[in-house]
Amino acid sequence: MFTPIHIPQVGITYKQPIGLFINNEYVKSKDGSLIDTFNPATGEKITSFYAAGTADIDEAVQAARNAYEDVWSKTTPSERSELLWKLASLVERDKKLLAAMETLDSGKPYHSNALGDLDQIISVTKYYAGVVQNLTQGKQIPVSHDKFAVTFEVPYGVVGQVVPWNYPLAMASWKMQGCLAAGNTIVIKPAENTSLSLLYFAQLFVEAGFPPGVVNIVPGHGAQAGTALAAHPDVDKVAFTGSTKVGQAVMEAAGKSNLKPVTLECGGKSPAVVFEDAEIEQAAEWCALGIFYNSGQNCTANSRIYVQESIYEKFLQEFKAQAAKAWKFGAKRDPFDEECTLGPVISEVQQKRVKSYIEHGVKEGLNIETLHELPADVKGFFVQPTFFTNVPQSSKLNREEIFGPVAVISTFKNESEALKLANDTNYGLASAVFTQNIGVATRFVRDIKAGTVWVNSSNDEEISVPFGGFKMSGIGRELGEAGLGSYLQTKSAHFNLSVSAHKL
Ligand SMILES: *[C@@H]1O[C@H](CO)[C@@H](O)[C@H](O)[C@H]1NC(C)=O
Ligand SMILES: *[C@@H]1O[C@H](CO)[C@@H](O)[C@H](O)[C@H]1NC(C)=O
Ligand SMILES: *[C@@H]1O[C@H](CO)[C@@H](O)[C@H](O)[C@H]1NC(C)=O
Ligand SMILES: *[C@@H]1O[C@H](CO)[C@@H](O)[C@H](O)[C@H]1NC(C)=O
Ligand SMILES: *[C@@H]1O[C@H](CO)[C@@H](O)[C@H](O)[C@H]1NC(C)=O
Ligand SMILES: *[C@@H]1O[C@H](CO)[C@@H](O)[C@H](O)[C@H]1NC(C)=O
Ligand SMILES: *[C@@H]1O[C@H](CO)[C@@H](O)[C@H](O)[C@H]1NC(C)=O
Repeated sequence: MFTPIHIPQVGITYKQPIGLFINNEYVKSKDGSLIDTFNPATGEKITSFYAAGTADIDEAVQAARNAYEDVWSKTTPSERSELLWKLASLVERDKKLLAAMETLDSGKPYHSNALGDLDQIISVTKYYAGVVQNLTQGKQIPVSHDKFAVTFEVPYGVVGQVVPWNYPLAMASWKMQGCLAAGNTIVIKPAENTSLSLLYFAQLFVEAGFPPGVVNIVPGHGAQAGTALAAHPDVDKVAFTGSTKVGQAVMEAAGKSNLKPVTLECGGKSPAVVFEDAEIEQAAEWCALGIFYNSGQNCTANSRIYVQESIYEKFLQEFKAQAAKAWKFGAKRDPFDEECTLGPVISEVQQKRVKSYIEHGVKEGLNIETLHELPADVKGFFVQPTFFTNVPQSSKLNREEIFGPVAVISTFKNESEALKLANDTNYGLASAVFTQNIGVATRFVRDIKAGTVWVNSSNDEEISVPFGGFKMSGIGRELGEAGLGSYLQTKSAHFNLSVSAHKL
């Protein structure tokens, strides 16, 4: 159930679990099928791990059900808090190893990115360990002299979760920590391209003292394992992060099976709007980070940048300079190298997808700029940082989520046009505005249809602040106190205090 993996760049050798994690044990999948996983920086196979099918999902859900009814639903918030604190300290202990696994399996730069993910995971774990201590378990509502009512915030029970490959452990932690704190048990499916780190992480739950069945980890293909989880009649809630198309399928399966509620965190095509009074250098730096961080594989990536006409040329120059300076493959194109801040995209499939958008722009005759040449024979799934200008608003480069290091930069004349362009999308996940004018900033915050607005920054996520989408970017919120609330439902109790007159 374990295979040794050596990561020479950080001098680490460790034992990688490759089984499904059910009831605190690693097991083979029932049909023995495996998934190969690749290092995106080299294209080489790392190892294979077992893939869950429908029967395995049934077993994992049963384990989570038993754990919920017999053990976890009877724990106190303090007990759950204690376990989460222990988990946080184990993540701190294993931080470098976990970050190295993320880099190996997803290609994200170790120094500038993977270690940062781990810091966020530690914070989110401590945050929910703290918040659950303070859990307000409902309220008392006085109805009349002879009656009062009480509400309770109670867990759903068994929660199914499906997480994406762009932030394998971080997205799992955004979902799991709050869900466990709230008192639910979990069956979670990592993405088939990035399952290694979460499989290893499972051992930290055991070491921290989480009882068997509270957390079950079932790697597998979305079409089989993901669908089985979303459609399972004994799963009480499902939370999914991924594309809008798959999000719609999850919601349909949830509705058709047992009407389980959903939390969906789906795609985005987030705008950044730069007004002429902004500090151009700073705005350019944030906008470059917002599209090139994690090679653009971020649902909040500011892939549409709108710049006021009067500062357009100056902004372009700054953007190019900032991007070229900050976002580099490094001489060795090795994400473990400190010089590498821009890793490969996740897979050959994704590389082809992103490149097809770039080719589309070229075919349409749009102005294209690329940074950092790549040798023709490069191994690994690298994509050059690219941006297009003079792109019609109707172009698919402006409308579809590319999920790669590709931005569109356009101009606007005035405030009302800026808002109209920024809002002209089916998505509504995030947005950014750069200005020193408080009126302009505040009106943008008020009017933009998006779940997050950054004023004078972009993509600087905070784990204590709720996160989620408007429009087709999703349903429900994660992080912050909302991230606990998403895993609680309200129960109301009515108390009749009347007694028959003759008994008094
Ligand atoms: C803790 O509870 C208090 C009182 O209900 C509330 O005001 C505060 O916002 C809570 N803090 C957190 C972090 O949940
Ligand atoms: C409580 O129940 C009694 C009958 O048992 C009924 O007469 C009374 O109206 C009820 N009171 C309230 C406040 O519901
Ligand atoms: C953001 O707003 C503050 C306050 O007006 C200002 O000092 C700062 O320069 C602005 N930043 C940018 C990038 O424009
Ligand atoms: C993940 O990898 C598989 C091959 O193992 C591939 O079919 C799939 O499309 C990949 N996903 C993405 C988003 O590239
Ligand atoms: C803003 O610009 C748009 C597009 O050019 C124009 O139609 C509109 O009249 C302008 N609004 C103001 C207030 O100047
Ligand atoms: C924003 O977009 C929505 C539809 O996506 C539309 O209903 C709304 O009128 C737009 N608002 C503005 C200010 O453009
Ligand atoms: C997007 O990237 C930022 C860093 O730029 C990171 O803090 C954030 O967690 C990412 N968001 C998501 C949803 O992956």
